[in-house]
Amino acid sequence: MSDKHTLTMDKPVEKSLLDSGAQGLVGEALDRVEGPKKVSGKATYSAEYPIENIAYGFLVRAPFAVGRITEIDMDAAKAAPGVVDVVTDFDRFIRNSAQGAVKEAPVQGVRDVVYFGEPVAIVVAERYEQARDAASLVRIVYDEGKGSFDFEAGISHADIPPDGAAPATFEQGNIDKAMATAGVTIDGDWTTPSQNSAAMEPHASIAMWDDDGLTLYGAYQMPSFDRPSLADALGLKPEKVRIIAPYIGGGFGGKLGIAPESVAAAIASKTTGRPVKAVMTRQQVFDATVRRSNTKQRIRLAADRNGRLTGIGHESHTSNLPDEVFFEPAGIATHFLYGGENRKITHDIVRLNRMLAGSMRAPGEAVGLLALECAMDELAEKLGMDPVELRKVNDCEQDPEKDIPYSTRSFTECLDEGAKRFGWEKRNTTPGKLREGEWLIGHGMASAARGNMLQPSEARVVLNPDGSAVVETDMTDIGTGTYTILSQIAGELLGLPIDRVEVRLGDNAFPPGSGSGGSFGAGSSGSSVYLACESIREKLAKAMGVSPDDLTLKDGEAIAANRHVALRDIIDGAIEATGRIEPGEQGEKVKQAGHGAHFCAVRVNAVTGEVRIDRWTAVFAAGRILNLKTATSQCYGGIVFGIGAALTEELVHDPHNGKIVNRDLAEYHLPVHADVPHLDVTFLPERDTHANPLHAKGIGELGIAGAGAAVANAIANATGARVRDYPITLDKLL
Ligand code: MOS
Repeated sequence: MSDKHTLTMDKPVEKSLLDSGAQGLVGEALDRVEGPKKVSGKATYSAEYPIENIAYGFLVRAPFAVGRITEIDMDAAKAAPGVVDVVTDFDRFIRNSAQGAVKEAPVQGVRDVVYFGEPVAIVVAERYEQARDAASLVRIVYDEGKGSFDFEAGISHADIPPDGAAPATFEQGNIDKAMATAGVTIDGDWTTPSQNSAAMEPHASIAMWDDDGLTLYGAYQMPSFDRPSLADALGLKPEKVRIIAPYIGGGFGGKLGIAPESVAAAIASKTTGRPVKAVMTRQQVFDATVRRSNTKQRIRLAADRNGRLTGIGHESHTSNLPDEVFFEPAGIATHFLYGGENRKITHDIVRLNRMLAGSMRAPGEAVGLLALECAMDELAEKLGMDPVELRKVNDCEQDPEKDIPYSTRSFTECLDEGAKRFGWEKRNTTPGKLREGEWLIGHGMASAARGNMLQPSEARVVLNPDGSAVVETDMTDIGTGTYTILSQIAGELLGLPIDRVEVRLGDNAFPPGSGSGGSFGAGSSGSSVYLACESIREKLAKAMGVSPDDLTLKDGEAIAANRHVALRDIIDGAIEATGRIEPGEQGEKVKQAGHGAHFCAVRVNAVTGEVRIDRWTAVFAAGRILNLKTATSQCYGGIVFGIGAALTEELVHDPHNGKIVNRDLAEYHLPVHADVPHLDVTFLPERDTHANPLHAKGIGELGIAGAGAAVANAIANATGARVRDYPITLDKLL
């Protein structure tokens, strides 16, 4: 029997069971427990399951951007070698519902095509190559309609969406008046392009049916959230769908929601009576899943002569398909990062026939801070002030928009520690004046901030008398380190060495976890494991006749009142408990966010415009760090994303039809090793009692926040040129 130990975060958890650290596991820089499996090819990814009688599916996509399909001629494809069937279903073949964001019915037919390359059918064949070849023989007949492809032209009739991750619009005081009366002002437009998450593993699903319904091996970040989406798309009850995703080769938002290949594979499998595998090609991932929206952001800053902000305006235009409600919440960090009594933060959507826009790593902050943090740098320059000092002057005691305190905010501490570690006092203070041969040298910094979230999450833990434990939840590990930190938490709280804990993830057959998104995964799923273990500890204490507070568990022994007892002498059978964490009022009563600061040194070649990054220092505060190694790696990854956003990443849309032109890793330029210097990442000690019982805050998206702006500011410092249009490619510097 398993009882459920539930905690709703309506008040702080002052004391964490992790504080005692008896087992010495939490916080340590431990290697990933599943690492050896991954590097030896023993971790099975969704496309790799050996399934008997499997058939291969290949997506057929609309060869036009906007209009109505009148006929799909499948004869030639069906006659091609090895073809089992060509399957389409206008009622169920859904537009990528990746973020579950369509205004009304999430199920939409694709008889009406709204972006170039939208999947409309799937060819199923005995072999992958046969399916791909036959897909080229499917002839789609259509009436082409008129689309919208011009972002600038659409700005005049953009619409205001319903509130999302951030309010769509917010106003406090009067920014126009603040601008008119300020001692110093900045007013400018920054633009950022569409981007793709570009995870290493493409979207891939294997679908198969039996009497219980659909089983789908699918590379998805949020199985408990994706299950009802997929069920809905197929007209099934959620319990008739089981998603299995123990290993995922990167997500970054691109796999938050279901993508077309899962629905197509499920329909094809049902129709053909065979298990069907559908793996998207790299090009399909780039142009038929989900993108980060391009943005145009107007930033207005009003300050007095001492640099104190009196007003902040952050008005963003982003794009998405007609009827989609998701908007890139570019102003999300602007709400709480700096003080200033007059504020206006808005988001408008320009309706474009471009691939669906949705979440990509740090939706909002990632691009919003590319604008805000450069505007702050320009303001510092105008004031003749140290950019670090300007930020410290505008640090605040409490949330500047709501009458609530921050849970913890070590922002100034991050700025100071980063400046010290980087050697900021020795920076170049005169833009364009430090030169070594052909190279102009510059130094830049920017703030990092990312709100902290908690999601409902459940986990089951079983403790065996032999001193081993099993953790089960449908939470995922998308490369972030979930297997490791959940092993650490369970090992710590049950007093077991880490190799005595087995963590099983990514299967709807397990209790529903938070999934990996919004940097809430570690805090949410970790708390559910914590709560299950707390419940087990209470049972052990009871069996020993002591209070749980007096119980220490270490190396398979229970220690209380000078008695050392082996687990097998306390319990005769396995003890099982389920833990569940739920967000509560504490999320509203305090503002919770991680903070940080980036510092970097760049070189810009005066002849070619080439930018090289020489040095990087970043300092973050995000509550308790659960594993120093995996947390540091999260920040490395975030900073690399930021470098890409600053210098190279850009999806180019054909102006005639919105089609993405550069749709592979050769043409969509991500930073490679040679583009990234040694990254010096430090965490400040912090405990957030308001966040969760672990006292930890999210880390997966904090590193990207502000990183690109530090690069842009360093380039401005090196060259004297302010490029407000990302990415800062060399042509813009010459
Ligand atoms: Mo994240 S963009 O919520 O995977």
